[in-house]
Amino acid sequence: MQLDNRKLVLGVTGSIAAYKACELLRLFVKGGADVYVAETEAACRLVAPATFEALSGHKVSTEIFNEASDIGHIELSAHADLIVIAPASAQTIAKLAAGMADNMLTATVLAAPCRTVIAPAMNSRMYLNPATQANLETLRKRGFIIISPEEGELACGTQGVGRMRPVEDIYNIVCALLNPREGIAFAGFGQYLPSPEAPLSLAQTRLLPKAQGAGLKVVITAGPTEEPIDPVRVITNKSSGKMGYALAEAARAAGADVTLISGPTHLPCPQGVKRINVRSAADMLNAVKDQVTDAQVVIGCAAVSDYRLAYVYDKKITKDETGDSLTLTLIKNEDIISYVGHLEKRPFTVGFAAETDHAEEHAKEKLTRKNLDLIVLNDVSRQDIGFNSDDNAVSVFDRDGKVADLDKAPKSVIASRLVDLIFEAVRKGA
Ligand code: C5P
Repeated sequence: MQLDNRKLVLGVTGSIAAYKACELLRLFVKGGADVYVAETEAACRLVAPATFEALSGHKVSTEIFNEASDIGHIELSAHADLIVIAPASAQTIAKLAAGMADNMLTATVLAAPCRTVIAPAMNSRMYLNPATQANLETLRKRGFIIISPEEGELACGTQGVGRMRPVEDIYNIVCALLNPREGIAFAGFGQYLPSPEAPLSLAQTRLLPKAQGAGLKVVITAGPTEEPIDPVRVITNKSSGKMGYALAEAARAAGADVTLISGPTHLPCPQGVKRINVRSAADMLNAVKDQVTDAQVVIGCAAVSDYRLAYVYDKKITKDETGDSLTLTLIKNEDIISYVGHLEKRPFTVGFAAETDHAEEHAKEKLTRKNLDLIVLNDVSRQDIGFNSDDNAVSVFDRDGKVADLDKAPKSVIASRLVDLIFEAVRKGA
């Protein structure tokens, strides 16, 4: 089994998602791990220690001076291969960032020689609050592995980012982290590598493979563009930006210096990524021209408008002026990724192709015409993947033909695999 002979500490904090920790614990135990649970006081009010005791076979630790625990905080951390805090509340994240040790869980983390994985779960305003984001960035730099929450319905009845990643994903990530050499699909989890600035002890280095993107500047275009018609109207498209943002997060987590040039989206900027906000294709091209000079990799993931208005009205167009019909003349925008591909001193250049028919043929033709190193083909005729979806499935081509087929998976997983492929090709000097 994937977690045979592994000792884990499962930290549970006072987020409503605490009940999901029971299922995660069950998966860990089924996978062969010996798991000790440390609950905060707030977590104990949500899920009684007796539940975790029954599932783990060990007493649950809460207070540092609790005689009932069968193991102390130093011992607990010393024996663990990994600490997993799921769910991690904003409060516990803040305490860890400050280096506090006021309960069994925080004291165990502070004393730990092993890595800590954190799966935040909270209301989206709490998650997006700059204080929480800064705390997470501090922890990431110290080598904590952050499993970013998802968007969706939250316990407080609102919609937004902050829902804990499914326990199956957390389980798979933990298995991959603990088995990097046994070939248990590490690919796809590159984004969970800690930051390259994180101090690593020898034991910790052994746990994780080297960050492949260290020393590379990666520029990624993402999202839609907006072409103004008049001061209030635009021509745009349905791109959500999710794929480009996932690529930025994955490249950053693999150690690269990432600049995300983004059209209008509602997505939060991934931790540690520099974002430049643009609206029109012309603005995006200018930002790329600025950023490309010292970049080693450029990935064109944006759904750039192929055309813009020949004439932009400076006042709102009214029906009285135009009558029953209005003709707009569009002129072609410059192709941004093709501009990059044809530069004399060109970076490793990656494009995307969203196709509905003759997909492979069109993708290969674009690779040649735009002078790209790699092209990522999306079949947009499928309803279950691509535009606006959380999942994707792609094929990757280089000048010699097909490099990989990446089956349907969350965009974050596809992004990690693409980043692995791109960095491997860059390192080989393709
Ligand atoms: O030709 P098509 O629009 O299908 O090509 C898609 C690829 O080209 C994507 O990588 C997209 O980001 C890029 N592109 C661009 N500038 C444009 C149009 C497309 O960079 N004006």
